[in-house]
Amino acid sequence: MEKIKAIIFDAYGTLFDVNSAAEKCKDKIGNKWESFANYWRTTQLEYTWLRSLMNRHEDFLRVTEDSLDKSMKVFKIDYAMKEELLNLYKILSPFKEVPCVLKALKKKKFKLAILSNGTPDLLNELVKSNNLDNIFDDIFSIEEVKIYKPDSRVYNIPIKKYQIEKSEVAYLSSNTWDLSASGNYGFNPVWVNRNNNIFDNLDYVPKYQIDNLSKLLDIV
Ligand code: LAC
Repeated sequence: MEKIKAIIFDAYGTLFDVNSAAEKCKDKIGNKWESFANYWRTTQLEYTWLRSLMNRHEDFLRVTEDSLDKSMKVFKIDYAMKEELLNLYKILSPFKEVPCVLKALKKKKFKLAILSNGTPDLLNELVKSNNLDNIFDDIFSIEEVKIYKPDSRVYNIPIKKYQIEKSEVAYLSSNTWDLSASGNYGFNPVWVNRNNNIFDNLDYVPKYQIDNLSKLLDIV
């Protein structure tokens, strides 16, 4: 990749493992913990898209709680665990290579930022609880524009601040729809495909695909 000035990361599912909250409770939830975690994540994203289309914005903490509430009912999970699961979501674990890769990229003097649906409070707590608070130049939240990804106003947030060309951004995400939208916007998207998934049919296929973030060091 040529001329990259900023490396921008999606947070949930890309830097931080969204299944780690339910996984930490797997003894209490039992075998269904992973299906429950996947359902929670899918419902959470659906609520972001639907709220944006309905023009009824509520922040990501509210959307995460609403989707958790529905998912617990669907999977018949003891309601007493709701607070615990929501609190664990605030301190999700990063994927294991993440701290090392971020430190190596920082040494190479790229601008490093997060661009996420999360609220500033949620994102700051995530980064802090994982000792990553000295890494990022900026943590951009969609709360600045009050509409969720994949609206192009979201991808415009860092461009406005950095005054760089869209093509000078490498954008990392595990979410295929996020990559299609950011690629159409003009970023250089890189698919972090940890689970050998199939890409979506949404007009744009990224040129770069890696199975974990450490491979990023070979392409930027
Ligand atoms: C985010 C979600 C889309 O961090 O993963 O914005």
